[in-house]
Amino acid sequence: KIRLIIDTDPGQDDAAAILMAHGLAKRGLIDFMALTVVAGNVGLHHTANNARIICDWAGQTDFPVYAGAGKPLLRELITAEEVHGKTGLDGVALHEPVCPLQPVHAVPYLIDTLRKADDASITICPIGPLTNIAQALSLAPDIGRAIKNIVLMGGNYFEAGNITPAAEFNFYVDPHAAQIVLQSGVPITVLPLDVTHKATITTPRMDVLRKQANANGSRLAGILQSYERFDTQKFGLEGGPLHDPCAIACAVFPEFFSGRDCHVAVETQSELTMGACVVDWWGTTGKPANAHWVTEVNANKMFHELAESIKQLP
Ligand code: BDR
Ligand code: CA
Repeated sequence: KIRLIIDTDPGQDDAAAILMAHGLAKRGLIDFMALTVVAGNVGLHHTANNARIICDWAGQTDFPVYAGAGKPLLRELITAEEVHGKTGLDGVALHEPVCPLQPVHAVPYLIDTLRKADDASITICPIGPLTNIAQALSLAPDIGRAIKNIVLMGGNYFEAGNITPAAEFNFYVDPHAAQIVLQSGVPITVLPLDVTHKATITTPRMDVLRKQANANGSRLAGILQSYERFDTQKFGLEGGPLHDPCAIACAVFPEFFSGRDCHVAVETQSELTMGACVVDWWGTTGKPANAHWVTEVNANKMFHELAESIKQLP
């Protein structure tokens, strides 16, 4: 059974990913260990609060949540309120969270936990800017030993950027962190916009969630409806992309996805193309692969597992 830590900046599609993970744990398919939180879609105060609220929704009021970096390694924080709303979770009523915040910073939590773990025993799914993960790997490169795979949502190559013409949001917010993680030597699977734009929340899929007879089904439909409006209009997609659930789904059901092992580097110098990925798809540099770059998904199967997982929740 996969032992999973999610690093996140909730975020509407982050909420879908976290609820999916709680449901997968209930189905006995993963051992969901913790959430580590980072600033991204909104500031850290909101992302940490939202992570705790989402655990309450899942009935996990004592789930371990650790707050981490409040800003990127070198650049100023850029947020995405225009997509996710002022709180980061537009489209649904929020409450004062019951689930506590752990009294330890996310980075030492990651380092301690991984140092105690067996070789290749823990999967990490980063679905926000990579600041926490880059800090942990820089401070304690030895922890790479315990990581089975980093299955992350971020980047783009065949698909245009969504925050600048060149870059995807998570990589643009902290390009230096993305580059550190990609060059770390740890096994990495990347779910870029190239694939997440093929996993959308279409109207029929939204209806499935809405019709599920549980609070979290309609809650998630509310969140995704609000989010869908933005992405559908802006990117001409049929429904908002389920970016972050792709990372969770790929960690647990890799057979739904396909891509290619290749060398990936992230631009950290040029303002024009900051955060853009250079993916050596045809192996022209001769550099060894440092990532599995995913480009295809069976979106029906992925959505089915998302809906089945949400069904397990209150
Ligand atoms: C990524 O950016 C965020 O706004 C989403 O939550 C997702 O992680 C998509 O570019
Ligand atoms: Ca996110």
